[in-house]
Amino acid sequence: MSQVQISRHPLVQHKLTLLRRTVTEPKKFRELVRELTQFLLYEATLDLPLKDRPIETPLAPIVGKQIGVQIGLVPILRAGLGMVDPIIDLIPTAHVWHLGLYRDHATLEPVTYYNKLPPEAEVDLCLVLDPMLATGGSAIAAVDILKRWGAQQIKFLGLIAAPEGVKALTEAHPDIPIHLAALDDHLNDKAYIVPGLGDAGDRQFGTG
Ligand code: PRP
Ligand code: URA
Repeated sequence: MSQVQISRHPLVQHKLTLLRRTVTEPKKFRELVRELTQFLLYEATLDLPLKDRPIETPLAPIVGKQIGVQIGLVPILRAGLGMVDPIIDLIPTAHVWHLGLYRDHATLEPVTYYNKLPPEAEVDLCLVLDPMLATGGSAIAAVDILKRWGAQQIKFLGLIAAPEGVKALTEAHPDIPIHLAALDDHLNDKAYIVPGLGDAGDRQFGTG
């Protein structure tokens, strides 16, 4: 489980508690997803390579730093959408490639309905974005697609996971680091995360 990082930041735990509350309405829910995503991004990018960038300050020339890799964001529709803007606010050069996957309610298997990857895998690091890692089926399918496409380095960023989803994703793709705000207790008989927060897509977009 060494590839699984669960944030210990007090602000993450505080905001996650607000996010989980049944009374948190979609506007507040989206704001919290946004704030939590920026904390997770901070933790997931601590090892980003840098390259030198010579600049001049008003007082002297110095060799500064700049991010040395091209980053691609891969939000899983719908719920991953809310994690895109807070990242491109911080990394405006990131590319965004949408993947549409939904869980079939009967089989719980992921169904791919949209894929906006360009023909060539031209980035160094792909961040797969989805607030919920439940059975792991959607995340595994997304990583399968990215690997077949030729992605070199992939990380998963999610807000809440079930142990079942972490186990499945880790077994299917042991090389993929998983960054989370919380690891919850279990899945219920409809494969919802308990205690979780309900349906992350419905709660962001008010479609419950
Ligand atoms: C949710 C969530 C994940 C998936 C997780 O999406 O955003 O994509 O379920 O479940 P899994 O780990 O068991 O695959 P959902 O299928 O509800 O689609 P939506 O975002 O369009 O509501
Ligand atoms: N998808 C969600 O949005 N919530 C869950 O608990 C499980 C899957």
